[in-house]
Amino acid sequence: MEIGMLHTHVLVVTLFLLFLLFKTILLLVNKKELLTTVRTKFKMVDPILGVLMLATGGYLLSLYGSTAPTYLWVKLVIVIIIIPIGIVAFKKENKAMAIIALLLTFYIYGASEVGSLTFSKEEASTTTENNPAQYAEEVMITGDKVQLIKTGEEIYLAECKKCHGVDGKKGLFKAPDLSKSKLGLYERIAWIKKGKGVMPAYADELRNTEIEAVALYLDKLK
Ligand code: HEC
Repeated sequence: MEIGMLHTHVLVVTLFLLFLLFKTILLLVNKKELLTTVRTKFKMVDPILGVLMLATGGYLLSLYGSTAPTYLWVKLVIVIIIIPIGIVAFKKENKAMAIIALLLTFYIYGASEVGSLTFSKEEASTTTENNPAQYAEEVMITGDKVQLIKTGEEIYLAECKKCHGVDGKKGLFKAPDLSKSKLGLYERIAWIKKGKGVMPAYADELRNTEIEAVALYLDKLK
């Protein structure tokens, strides 16, 4: 369901961008009559795409809960700005405004692809140097293992399922298949504490024993 939503979102944004590009070109080459025809014939396209874009985007944003990265909020604000600029630009046949709307749309499209507002890989933390597994320290897991795994399962279903799926294979936001993960227990604990990119850091949200429990539970997915 979420993957379908992500694909729908990308498709809608792409259509919006192409339609905007088409209208901007018509405006720039002074094909005003054709532009008017296109605008009147397809006057429902922009409102429909706009609503779909915000609805699917809003839904995806809600999946992150309180952990949504800043660039997603900025994107939302920019989209809310683009829609009226676009409407006014073509109504008043204002080339500068049409170009601004087009550039802003390209910008958020690119920012989404890279997962960062400044297009820096580091901010998007997709670099391998920032791999939480490298921060793994030795931990001693104490306590009843069966009980820990049960607690781990509860936490997994409450916190992790939405992106990783019940079986660890869902892969929302390109999350790796946990049933095939080669990380050891300590590396997993470090991952869960530190997070990375879209994957939230749980160090402040869960107690150490809870993090250990869910890390232990991941073995059950294999
Ligand atoms: C918002 C979505 C999201 C949630 C919620 C989430 N993850 Fe992740 N997780 C990801 C993504 C995306 C990656 C890959 C990050 C990257 O490589 O940049 C990942 C990576 C991982 C990895 C590393 C796997 C590997 O082999 O490299 C582990 C382990 C993991 N998550 C466990 C968990 C656990 C346990 C929870 C719940 C406590 C959780 N995740 C919650 C999205 C999520």
